[in-house]
Amino acid sequence: MVLIAPSILSANFARLAEDIQRVEQAGADWLHIDVMDGHFVPNLTIGPLVVRDIKKETGLLLDVHLMIEKPENLIPAFIAAGADLITVHAETCPHLHRTLTMVKEAGRQAGVSLNPSTPVAMVENVIGEVDLVLAMTVNPGFGGQKFIHSVLPKISALRAMIARSGSGAHLQVDGGINVETGKLAVDCGADVLVAGSFIFAAADVGQAIRDLKNIAACPLLQPFGLQ
Ligand code: DX5
Ligand code: ZN
Repeated sequence: MVLIAPSILSANFARLAEDIQRVEQAGADWLHIDVMDGHFVPNLTIGPLVVRDIKKETGLLLDVHLMIEKPENLIPAFIAAGADLITVHAETCPHLHRTLTMVKEAGRQAGVSLNPSTPVAMVENVIGEVDLVLAMTVNPGFGGQKFIHSVLPKISALRAMIARSGSGAHLQVDGGINVETGKLAVDCGADVLVAGSFIFAAADVGQAIRDLKNIAACPLLQPFGLQ
């Protein structure tokens, strides 16, 4: 089964609660929250105070994607705000095991993310400790970018690494996900699809979520651009 995590980066921030309720009612599984610091990525978004208020508006699992330097400084605040799953970038964590342990010891789920050009070996030694691995399929920082196809073999390699470790970790993809690219990622072993613009720009949000959920059950769809 594929889980769908709408990214609120593409929501209307002036009507955030309304947009969140829309995707929740439409069958979203998780809510993906993109935190950017203007340093690790060239954009600024939201902080723990917004997460705290989102928590009051939804029962969805809050999947907090930290695209920030020194994430260990802010992890306690995101935990206090009600984040259920916190994903850090391996590129920002010289003491990755320690950072993930901070999250786990607080009783929350911990994820680790890799940029498109970061090798899978970066997560090999923590694969047994994490609840989720995130393979970025765009360079993080903005919604609405184009899916990077060269990440596909990495998704397969991460799926194999998770299987070898015997862990039940999720394999999430994020960036440029639509029905075609989502299908390619799921075929390589992804089981959580983050989608921002595909969902929030759709005329029918519910249909967009159902289309993504149906990917796994749709063997007739030809891999886009790979025939
Ligand atoms: C990119 C973010 C993504 C982004 C995805 O840095 O991590 O979560 O919102 O947006 P789309 O689906 O539009 O590529
Ligand atoms: Zn994200």
